[in-house]
Amino acid sequence: MTIAVIGTGNMGSGFAKLLAGASEKVVIGARDAAKASQLAQEIGGGTEGGGIAAAGRLADVILVAVWYQHFAETIRAAGDLSGKVIIDISNPVTEDFKGLRLGHTTSAAEALQKLAPQAKVVKAFNTIFAQLLPTEARTGVPVQVFVAADDEPAKAVVSSLATRTGFQAVDSGPLSNARFLEPVGALNIHFGFFLGQGTGVAPAWVKAA
Ligand SMILES: NC(=O)c1ccc[n+]([C@@H]2O[C@H](COP(=O)([O-])OP(=O)(O)OC[C@H]3O[C@@H](n4cnc5c(N)ncnc54)[C@H](OP(=O)(O)O)[C@@H]3O)[C@@H](O)[C@H]2O)c1
Repeated sequence: MTIAVIGTGNMGSGFAKLLAGASEKVVIGARDAAKASQLAQEIGGGTEGGGIAAAGRLADVILVAVWYQHFAETIRAAGDLSGKVIIDISNPVTEDFKGLRLGHTTSAAEALQKLAPQAKVVKAFNTIFAQLLPTEARTGVPVQVFVAADDEPAKAVVSSLATRTGFQAVDSGPLSNARFLEPVGALNIHFGFFLGQGTGVAPAWVKAA
């Protein structure tokens, strides 16, 4: 299985390193192919880098590590995504990171699914700060990843990826539950950035009885 990571920012580079470190075949895609190629070289282990279209073409699973505002441009650049699994990690936050640009009756994940109707969009990892991607940053309690999707096999693929990279995958129902997961991601940003807890925090669902 080849995984394309689109974006070379905090999350893109973090996921590329994490996945390559877990022996996954990773292809990095970016607007600037040279930037992706340089990051791939730094990571090594057979990681490749290039343009967004090339990465999308080579991959079975595409992790979109760009902001919600850049979804349309990114999906257009990726070309035909029919049958591919797309992982949406986004929190569609406002510029000040304190609110959400959309919600209640839709979500960034559903917007992404509309942009790529032939693909299988899976919401996951939006409640994980980039600082918690390295395995060595997660040594205390198990860190949960909430996984929501309409396509069960696609959900299983992403849940398995989460498990293989040391997270605890939590089945979070259909893709429309991204409407609830994105506000949880926003609350996590409030805890991390505005309430003084730092970026080592992540939400967990506790079964108390
Ligand atoms: N940071 C976190 O802790 C965190 C946690 C959970 C979820 N997320 C989500 O992860 C996604 C990426 O966040 P990030 O922190 O990795 O962001 P970032 O560091 O700002 O990186 C964003 C990436 O988007 C790319 N991009 C594609 N089209 C673009 C355009 N038109 N304009 C500007 N940049 C464009 C950039 O590409 P170039 O390399 O070509 O500039 C860059 O690699 C967001 O959806 C965010 O909500 C982030």
